[in-house]
Amino acid sequence: MIMRRSLNLRTITMMILMAVLVWSITLETCIARRGRHWRHSHHQSSSDLSDSLSNKKPKSHGNNHHNSHNNNNHHHKSKPKPKPTPKVKTPPKADHDNNPPVVSRPPKVQPPPLPPVKGSQVFNVMDFGAKGDGKCDDTKAFEAAWASACKIEASMMIVPPEYIFLVGPISFSGPNCQANIVFQLDGTIIAPTDSKSWGKGLMWWIEFTKLIGIKVQGKGVIDGRGSGWWQQDYPFNDEENKFLVPLNNSVQQHPPMPIRSELDERMPSIKPTALRFYGSFGAEVTGITIQNSPQCHLKFDNCVGVVVHDMVVSSPGDSPNTDGIHLQNTKDVLIHGTTLACGDDCISIQTGCSNVYIHNVNCGPGHGISIGSLGKDSTKACVSNITVRDVTMHNTMNGVRIKTWQGGVGSVKGILFSNIQLNEVQCPIVIDQFYCDHSKCKNQTSAVAVEGVTYERIKGTYTVKPVHFACSDNFPCVDVQLSSIELKPVPEKYHMSDAFCWQTFGELNTPTLPPIDCLQIGKPARNRVQSDHDVC
Ligand SMILES: *[C@@H]1O[C@H](CO)[C@@H](O)[C@H](O)[C@H]1NC(C)=O
Ligand SMILES: *[C@@H]1O[C@H](CO)[C@@H](O)[C@H](O)[C@H]1NC(C)=O
Ligand SMILES: *[C@@H]1O[C@H](CO)[C@@H](O)[C@H](O)[C@H]1NC(C)=O
Repeated sequence: MIMRRSLNLRTITMMILMAVLVWSITLETCIARRGRHWRHSHHQSSSDLSDSLSNKKPKSHGNNHHNSHNNNNHHHKSKPKPKPTPKVKTPPKADHDNNPPVVSRPPKVQPPPLPPVKGSQVFNVMDFGAKGDGKCDDTKAFEAAWASACKIEASMMIVPPEYIFLVGPISFSGPNCQANIVFQLDGTIIAPTDSKSWGKGLMWWIEFTKLIGIKVQGKGVIDGRGSGWWQQDYPFNDEENKFLVPLNNSVQQHPPMPIRSELDERMPSIKPTALRFYGSFGAEVTGITIQNSPQCHLKFDNCVGVVVHDMVVSSPGDSPNTDGIHLQNTKDVLIHGTTLACGDDCISIQTGCSNVYIHNVNCGPGHGISIGSLGKDSTKACVSNITVRDVTMHNTMNGVRIKTWQGGVGSVKGILFSNIQLNEVQCPIVIDQFYCDHSKCKNQTSAVAVEGVTYERIKGTYTVKPVHFACSDNFPCVDVQLSSIELKPVPEKYHMSDAFCWQTFGELNTPTLPPIDCLQIGKPARNRVQSDHDVC
């Protein structure tokens, strides 16, 4: 009885699936892949059904996916197949820990594209049912591969080259994962562009949380396909353009409102960061490209020990709020050898950051490298020991900037900007303690204090204003050091201004071009002292 009923059910289901199969081959392969995934969750009959429907040979049902790359059901029309990865048997971990490997490897047939580290295990998303055709949702396969990689120290999760993986919002999370996992990204990961995938809005798309030693490396691409989100952000934030006075009234302040097709879905108003690391010790990102994020591209929050190098961020200069790299509550950070092109700050350093060293970075288009904005809604902000050196900026809104809101407390201390080459930057050097991204912000008595900011060898061309130091009346900026400043005007379509200073104290260690006479030499006669409660 039960048998017959289930047979009938199977027949009906089979007929439905047959129809689907005839209707669309693409859909059929998606179902087949999903069927394969179900098998891992022990839904035996469903997967058998889809297997028999698509005439697949029975596959190994074992749980060890280790390099069991199966090419049977990859119907590639346009993309070339990647070279099959040779099987690499890794010795048991105990052996590796105690003795050097005794058994010599067989003579190399052909080296794998990226030989796994000895003693590590690799988990290829293709072995977990990923399709990599840019259409089927591969989220489940990525989750399954991560679940396996998570259990083994120094394991490697592989996202192979040549494929495009459509992956929805996903979290690769500890805290119960082993340390030092490598996420080898050589393929392309794309974000869903339909509003349904994002629910009411999510803060991030791909996140790694609560891990010890996590490395994302490879030649791959993370593409947020954010244009649908950007269009909703019109008009743009005027605070960022407040120095611009067009020469000719007919000059357009904003790029024209993009034309939206009637068919476009409305995306949620909360826009996701493309790649986010949270609460981790030792996070490294290298080699990859992150592009067209709906919002920020790469974010570190509550991390200690971050290294980012030889990677690229790329999105259009007019894409709103698309920061390149965003640091928050994060300490001991090294960023170098990166090229950042985006529609907001190339690097943004927020509250709770210290010991940050940034060098050999190219920025532009974008809004420059910024500390802040800090102290919004009377909050306490603490930022210290930040070095930014050997940076080039091309066509950016600002060069190096510190921005704080009125009413905050805490401090920004120990900042060095050195050897910054600027090319047609609107305003190269900015301290703004009157930051306000809406129409009215009242002047208040408290402020995030700014002290100990050194600018040396800041050279190149500007198009609006060379220096803008606007500090608060109650907490003047102190110990602002300037040397070897050489900034030449290049008139464009805006009124040019001279250097501006308000309540800014420090030293001119060399003559500057243009002269920055407005800097008050020495210390303020009377400097308000923050209460213990407000000190960092
Ligand atoms: C202002 O721009 C308009 C249109 O681009 C142009 O015809 C006009 O000559 C410009 N005026 C000045 C003073 O540059
Ligand atoms: C400042 O940060 C650098 C790394 O950028 C670090 O090497 C140095 O020890 C820090 N200095 C202090 C006083 O913490
Ligand atoms: C706040 O104070 C600054 C400096 O004293 C002044 O230039 C500015 O106009 C004030 N803004 C408001 C809204 O009162």
